[in-house]
Amino acid sequence: MLVTGAAGFIGSHLCERLLADGHQVVGVDSYTDYYERADKERNLEPARANSGFSFEELDLVDADLRAALDGVKVVFHLADQSAVRSSWGSHFDRFVRDNVVATQRLLEAVKEMPIGRLVYASSSAVYGDAEMSPTRENALPRPISPYGMTKLAAEYLALLYMRNFGIPVVALRYFTVYGPRQRPDMALARFMQALATNQEIEVFGDGEQARDFTYISDVVDGTVKAAGRAVSGQVINLGGGSRVTINQVLATLEEVSGMQVRKRNLPATPGDPKHAVASINLARERLGWEPRVTLRDGLTKQWEWFQEALGRPVKTAG
Ligand SMILES: NC(=O)c1ccc[n+]([C@@H]2O[C@H](COP(=O)([O-])OP(=O)(O)OC[C@H]3O[C@@H](n4cnc5c(N)ncnc54)[C@H](O)[C@@H]3O)[C@@H](O)[C@H]2O)c1
Repeated sequence: MLVTGAAGFIGSHLCERLLADGHQVVGVDSYTDYYERADKERNLEPARANSGFSFEELDLVDADLRAALDGVKVVFHLADQSAVRSSWGSHFDRFVRDNVVATQRLLEAVKEMPIGRLVYASSSAVYGDAEMSPTRENALPRPISPYGMTKLAAEYLALLYMRNFGIPVVALRYFTVYGPRQRPDMALARFMQALATNQEIEVFGDGEQARDFTYISDVVDGTVKAAGRAVSGQVINLGGGSRVTINQVLATLEEVSGMQVRKRNLPATPGDPKHAVASINLARERLGWEPRVTLRDGLTKQWEWFQEALGRPVKTAG
């Protein structure tokens, strides 16, 4: 099995799950400097301790991928440049490079190989302000951020390589993934950082935007299932299963941490959809998948991890 973006938040957890299932895993990552390399190296430590794991530091855009792909049956493609807010302006080049060009180069390499499945990590950002909520996979994708546009372009690329070259592709649209190792730019990671350092929590917009928070072990479980089921050519949502507003998340974080949240509302960010809520019926039917971790339990785990990462004693309320 090969995992791109293996040193990232979700990729590192996926590697560990595959190793625990007894697979040999090749991890690939270029350690982009979007956030600290040291964080990514720490993410990889548990996988590196397993003899079934090997790691290649390489950039999908310009590396020769044939050696890494040799003998691989399943490719999990998670490498990308994430973040809606920074995808405007001159940063856009980076999103095109690491999301669209990198995916095309990987597909070119894979089309020469007899792989059994390519699982592409897409995003709820492809929907934009969706015409229906909860959003089903057949809703017209209308991204409202440059980031979402590049994720949709990469999804289309994967599916057109399937049509033309028979690569068995499945695209998973992840909804707001959270848990230990969450990227530092993501909302919960920022909220916890502010809370722990007694700063005001900055909330973009009025906090009434709804999100479908999906705990890391659930998203990993759905991703593993997508490699083993007859779902080639499908696009499938993986969402945590409950609609929660940012204000509700902050109330739960207050309970979990036992600390008082002080928040400051900032103007809504261009590119952030009002709601991002998944219909997960297709994942239930085709993958036999069900999210299991409640928001309260997941937030507790992320808060405990965050406290440990700060080198503080773990403290949770209740
Ligand atoms: N985290 C979420 O809530 C979320 C939501 C929807 C979709 N996703 C998707 O899941 C995937 C993983 O997200 P994450 O939050 O773990 O992000 P992350 O930034 O932690 O991990 C991505 C990794 O890809 C690597 N990478 C980037 N460009 C590369 C290249 N050209 N060659 C090799 N490696 C490269 C980076 O160094 C990074 O370690 C992404 O495709 C993302 O779009 C994540």
